[in-house]
Amino acid sequence: MSALLLAIAGWDPAPWERRFRAAAPKRDIRLWPDRIGNPADVAYAAAWLPPHGAFGQFKNLRAIFSLGAGVDALLGDRSLPQVPVVRVIDPNLTMRMTEYVTLHVLLHHRRQRLYDAQQRERRWHEHAQPPASEVTVGIMGMGVLGRDAAGVLARIGFRVAGWSRTPKSLPGVETFHGAAGLESFLARTEILVCLLPHTPATEGILDLALLRKLKRDGALGGAYLVNAGRGMLQVDADILAALDEDALAGVTLDVFPTEPLPPASQLWTHPKVAITPHNSAASVPEEVVAYIVNQIERFEAGKGLQNVIDRASGY
Ligand code: NDP
Ligand code: OXD
Repeated sequence: MSALLLAIAGWDPAPWERRFRAAAPKRDIRLWPDRIGNPADVAYAAAWLPPHGAFGQFKNLRAIFSLGAGVDALLGDRSLPQVPVVRVIDPNLTMRMTEYVTLHVLLHHRRQRLYDAQQRERRWHEHAQPPASEVTVGIMGMGVLGRDAAGVLARIGFRVAGWSRTPKSLPGVETFHGAAGLESFLARTEILVCLLPHTPATEGILDLALLRKLKRDGALGGAYLVNAGRGMLQVDADILAALDEDALAGVTLDVFPTEPLPPASQLWTHPKVAITPHNSAASVPEEVVAYIVNQIERFEAGKGLQNVIDRASGY
């Protein structure tokens, strides 16, 4: 049986290997970089942050499976073999992201950071509570994750706007697309949620010029940012500058251009910044392995792969 190579960096490969062996006991499983065996046997690769050039020696590779929803680290490798690249779409992963987005939108909407600070000072003081129906959450990236979060945010009463590359029509969501739709989208957005992929077109999009266009004079009295897409979408220095000049009143960041976020970063200690370690929607081996094993079985039964990314658009 053709071999499956696990090429995992940045995460502990052991639980992934255990899970793949349990889910596909007959599959010949190889581990990059030390247990590759004969490279000609390898037909599939399941990968997370593999170094560029890692797949060059596998001449019989038929498909690459990302262990996450994003494929930017794979596509950044110009030598990546021209085989289908499949990304993860999983209902639990989607729900985890929606939980995170909802949690952090509400954190800013309900001013929880202020109450945390007040608690440290034993200070009893109430802040205004504008209704969600007066606050617009704008979601950049109306894909699998953005659409799900939009539905839940609309359900709990927010006005929701969405921005994507191509036109969308979603009940209860005001939609915008492309460069032409960006200004109008930003002008009504008080809480900006970013769930874009990192591509050449989106790199650095969250810069000072964009953040200055958010709505600051709405019900919340300031603009907020939640980025759980990719760190390369944001310019850290511009986020700090936007906080300094009150273009932003608060920020949640799950992702950073350099991960782990370096200890010297001013973001760590900024009182208006909430930080999580790129775990807003973790890839859980039990879920992702079942998905990939199913994809390989489908492929070998001639049914075709699902969720193959488009190399031209980069996601
Ligand atoms: P999808 O591919 O389903 O959606 C991507 C969305 O972004 C689409 O709506 C797409 O537009 C839009 N988009 C892409 N390029 C542009 C552009 N140039 N201008 C405007 N819109 C654009 O991805 P998912 O929703 O599944 O995931 C989104 C990202 O979330 C992943 O790529 C990954 O980086 C990140 N992620 C982060 C995690 C974490 O733990 N922090 C976990 C999982 C994912 P259109 O609909 O028109 O194609
Ligand atoms: C992903 C991630 O892309 O966890 O799934 O970042």
